[in-house]
Amino acid sequence: MGKTKRIGILTSGGDSPGLNAAIRGVGKAALGFYNMEILGFRDGFRGLAENHRIRLEKNTLAGILTIGGTILGTSRDKPHRMEIDGRNRDMTDAILRNCAKLGLDAVVCLGGGGTQKSALRLAQKGLHVLTLPKTIDNDVAMTDATFGFDTALGIATEAIDRLHSTAHSHHRIVVAEIMGHRAGWLALGAGIAGGADVILIPEIPYDVSRIAQAIRARSRHGTNFSIVAVAEGAMSKEDARAFNAAEEKREKARAKVERRAARLELDALEHKHAGNTLRLARQLEELTHLESRVTILGYVQRGGTPSAGDRLLATRLGTACADLIHEGVYGVMVAARGNGTEPVPLEKVAGKLKTVPLDHPWVESARRVGTCLGD
Ligand code: F6P
Repeated sequence: MGKTKRIGILTSGGDSPGLNAAIRGVGKAALGFYNMEILGFRDGFRGLAENHRIRLEKNTLAGILTIGGTILGTSRDKPHRMEIDGRNRDMTDAILRNCAKLGLDAVVCLGGGGTQKSALRLAQKGLHVLTLPKTIDNDVAMTDATFGFDTALGIATEAIDRLHSTAHSHHRIVVAEIMGHRAGWLALGAGIAGGADVILIPEIPYDVSRIAQAIRARSRHGTNFSIVAVAEGAMSKEDARAFNAAEEKREKARAKVERRAARLELDALEHKHAGNTLRLARQLEELTHLESRVTILGYVQRGGTPSAGDRLLATRLGTACADLIHEGVYGVMVAARGNGTEPVPLEKVAGKLKTVPLDHPWVESARRVGTCLGD
C-alpha cells in the first residue's frame, strides 16, 4: 500500500455560492474514499504563505453543502505580490517552503481567473497544484461552466421579475445593474430569463440613442415601462474606444514610465466607469422623458444558499479532483465538460477570459425575441 497522501485546499478571489459544496466534494472523496489527509488554508494564498490552516475532518465537512460563502475564508492575495507589514512581497518561496514542510502532495485552489494565474505560477515553481473553476461571472476559459453562476443567475432573474411589476406600475425605466466586469454571461442570461427589454454587456458596446429609440418604440405601442439589464462592465461605444486605446498603449509600452502612464490612464477610465449605470439611467430619462430608477444588485448575487445545479457541479468537480490527485495528475484545472469532467493544463486556462461570443446562441435568441442589445 502507498503512503497516505496529504493535500491542502484553499479558496481564493471573490466568494461564490458552491465553494463549500466543492470543499466538501474534494474533502469527502479524499478522506473517505481515498483515505488521504486534508488541510484547509485560511483566506486564500495568504493562508498558504503564513501557514494559517485547519485540519479538515469528517465533521468539519458535514453540514456545509448548502451554506453560502466559504468556511475557509478568501482573499484576492497573490503569491507573488502579497501585502505583508505594509509592503508588497513575493511570498512564492515561503509558500513552497511551507508546503514542503507540511509534506503536501498537492494543493487544490478553488477560484476564478486570477486564481488560475496564481496557481500556474506555483505549478511552474514545481508545486503540485490543481484548480476548480468558480465565479458567478462564468468567465473562466476552457470549462463549460463555473460554480456560482447558476445561483447568481437565479437571483438576478428573480430580481428582474420583481422589478417588472414596479416598473410597470409606475411607467418607469428600471435599470438593473448585474455583476460581470469583463464578461456579460450573467446579465445576458438573467436578462433573457427575466425578459428584460434591453440587455447591455461588455462584449457589445452600446449606443445610448439606440436604447432610447427601442424604449420610445415600446411607448408608442402602448408599453410605457422598460427593464434594462446592464452588466457592470458594459460601456458605450465611445468609452469602449477610449478603453481599447488605453489598453493598446499599455500593451505597446516598453519603458517603465510609459507603462505607468498607460496604467494611470486606465485607472482613470475605470474610476469614471464606476458611476456608469447611474449616468445611463439619467441619459435614458432625458432622451425618453420616462422616469428612471436604478437597482444595483451587487453582492446579493454572490451570497447565500447555492442552487441545486451549483451544488451538483461543485460536487462533480470536487470528487473528480480527488480522483486526479489519487492518479497523480497535477498542474490542471478540473473543467466541466458535458455531463463529465476533464483535466485541462493550467497553461491553457491562465490569463484567458471566456467572454460571450457575438454569435452565441443566447445573443441570437435575445435578438429574435426583440431584445435591444444596445448596438
Ligand atoms: O466574482 C466576480 C465579481 O463578482 C465581479 O463581477 C465583480 O466585478 C467583482 O467580483 C467584485 O468583487 P470584489 O468587490 O469582491 O472584489
